[in-house]
Amino acid sequence: MQHSEGFRAGPGPSPAMQILRRTSVLLWAALVAAGCQTTNPQPAAAPAAGSLPASEPLVTNPRNWPDIFSYADPESFVTRSFALDLDVDFAASQLRGTVTLELDRIDPGARELVLDTRDLQIAAVEAAPAGRTEFKAVRFALDARDDVLGAALRISVPRDAGRVRIAYATSPQASGLQWLQPAQTAGRQMPFLFSQAQALHARSIVPLQDTPWIRSTYTATLRVPAGLVAVMAAESDPGNHRGATEFRFRMPQPVPSYLLALAVGDLEFRALGPRTGVWAEPAKLDAAAREFEDAEAMMVKTEALWGPYRWGRYDVLVLPPSFPFGGMENPRLTFMTPTVIAGDKSLVGVLAHELAHSWSGNLVTNATWRDGWLNEGFTTYFERRIMEAVYGEERARMEWGVGYQDLRQALDELAPDQAWRGALAPDLALHKDEDGSSVAYEKGALFLYQLEQIYGRAQLDAFLQGWFDRHAFTSVTTPQFVGELRQGLMAGAPGRVDAAFLSRWIDGTGLPADARLVQSDALERVDAQRLRWEQGSLATAALQTDRWSVQEWLHFLNRVTRPQSVARLQELDQRFRLTESQNAEVTHAWFRLAIASGYPGIEPALERYLTGIGRLKLIRPLYADLLKTPQGAEFARRVYAQARPGYHAITQRSLDRLLKEGS
Ligand code: BES
Ligand code: ZN
Repeated sequence: MQHSEGFRAGPGPSPAMQILRRTSVLLWAALVAAGCQTTNPQPAAAPAAGSLPASEPLVTNPRNWPDIFSYADPESFVTRSFALDLDVDFAASQLRGTVTLELDRIDPGARELVLDTRDLQIAAVEAAPAGRTEFKAVRFALDARDDVLGAALRISVPRDAGRVRIAYATSPQASGLQWLQPAQTAGRQMPFLFSQAQALHARSIVPLQDTPWIRSTYTATLRVPAGLVAVMAAESDPGNHRGATEFRFRMPQPVPSYLLALAVGDLEFRALGPRTGVWAEPAKLDAAAREFEDAEAMMVKTEALWGPYRWGRYDVLVLPPSFPFGGMENPRLTFMTPTVIAGDKSLVGVLAHELAHSWSGNLVTNATWRDGWLNEGFTTYFERRIMEAVYGEERARMEWGVGYQDLRQALDELAPDQAWRGALAPDLALHKDEDGSSVAYEKGALFLYQLEQIYGRAQLDAFLQGWFDRHAFTSVTTPQFVGELRQGLMAGAPGRVDAAFLSRWIDGTGLPADARLVQSDALERVDAQRLRWEQGSLATAALQTDRWSVQEWLHFLNRVTRPQSVARLQELDQRFRLTESQNAEVTHAWFRLAIASGYPGIEPALERYLTGIGRLKLIRPLYADLLKTPQGAEFARRVYAQARPGYHAITQRSLDRLLKEGS
């Protein structure tokens, strides 16, 4: 298996590349020097954007490197595989044990291995020749901690060493782990632990080369307290069973570090299909199995579009509500928020999305976070194709419509000095990590939709299948994709798009004026009713909503002009019981409208919502809306003080920033 072909393929660095590399290194040094004090997790905002490689258009760049979010140097060493051996200590909220890295020495002269860490206690480091067990202690040093990158671990590696073993422990505050008390679980009897490694959190769980440039296979042994079950985004050993205290796993396909994932809790499994199933706490299992019952059908449809599923099983793990994201595409085992379990499959777009990542993201991976749209934009396009194949064209069109509104809003809300965030691959940006921008997702998806419209579905699908085949299990850059697009789809039907089209879409910071959008008749009918309702020619009682899907409701609520009069909202609430809606997305959209209009009826429900859910996308905008008025801000701060201890570290960090600094 070739590793990280993406950045080693091709001729030596061009002069432009060398300049790019030098400026990147300078920037990187400045960032490391300055970044120690910053609380902004997005060094992209670092100074003087004009002089950064930012100004180097990706469309014409041969490559983009290095990964400025990692200390690892893939030109010295590459981790080929690693073995984890960890005790899961709930009393201390710590993982403790060893990791043994198997290294490829890329530079024969390399003597220093640099790993990423964050808040790890390093007890000892030893090295041994490849394949041997005569470990000898070696010197190591942990650099000062940078707020964004963590701390580089520098290890002196003897000439003959091919493996390094590190004894370490995680911090109870590890940014990539959440240790839950029994009261924070559905069953309320047993504790729960889960990880979230994307984007820069694997380094808080294991000392490793934490960059998506590098892929490794791994094995793991987890020792857990009796009665708890451990799962990982990996193949489970046939000997693992409920009641055991030691669980073993192996990941035979090479994966980037951000896909490392584990969870421990009172977990049960239910099969959905021959190679699909769901893990959840017992109390959640029935509802989860019903909600996700179409997983197998989704897989069958997706394979027909983009080739075989290459990971063996596809299971879904339902997490407690503090999980900070909607879903996370951990290979073989998607991690899922319980807020998508609406009872009517209305939110299973998230399932289609995470499944689609098995191709776009997990099989072919963004080489740096700047290339995040290769993961998220592709996946959002695939998600819509899967939704169309399984639930029909109108459902897919509606989801495009709801996504488009998100994008419009995100672009419209960008402050002038933040306009660069509107680019598909904004320089140095950490994509969706903490601020929830939809640009990489929706603009990326629309870019592929343009290609579909211009070249035809069959041609686009064939091109994408080729892309996945050629780059399976490697990491890729935007310039690489652009190059292959030119040689493939574009060369095959010359004259349909030009270089300007590519730069408008990839380097341009808005949505090109001639963008083709997906129309939905259903959403247009919703708009028509909404306009009449807003103008007063249609009474609330006369709104025809009987057959509205959740997407139609979301479209209606998201687009209602604000503020609305309290009386009007009261009518809506009384007729449609929106404050009590059991659909987490509908409630979210309703709360946003209600807050913007000063509608007082929602407070107790809003407080329950904000303390009960930790999914950033659902709660961060509500806090931000509340902060816009003095009473709202007071309410937000009171609720946050109560809710904060229950939130994940990623959520806490994002909301701390919002509440303290307003950004
Ligand atoms: N990989 C992302 C989640 C993520 C992004 C975690 C960036 C950390 C940093 C995942 O696939 C995702 O996009 N989830 C979305 C769901 C979706 C349907 C847009 C989410 O969490 O809302
Ligand atoms: Zn995604």
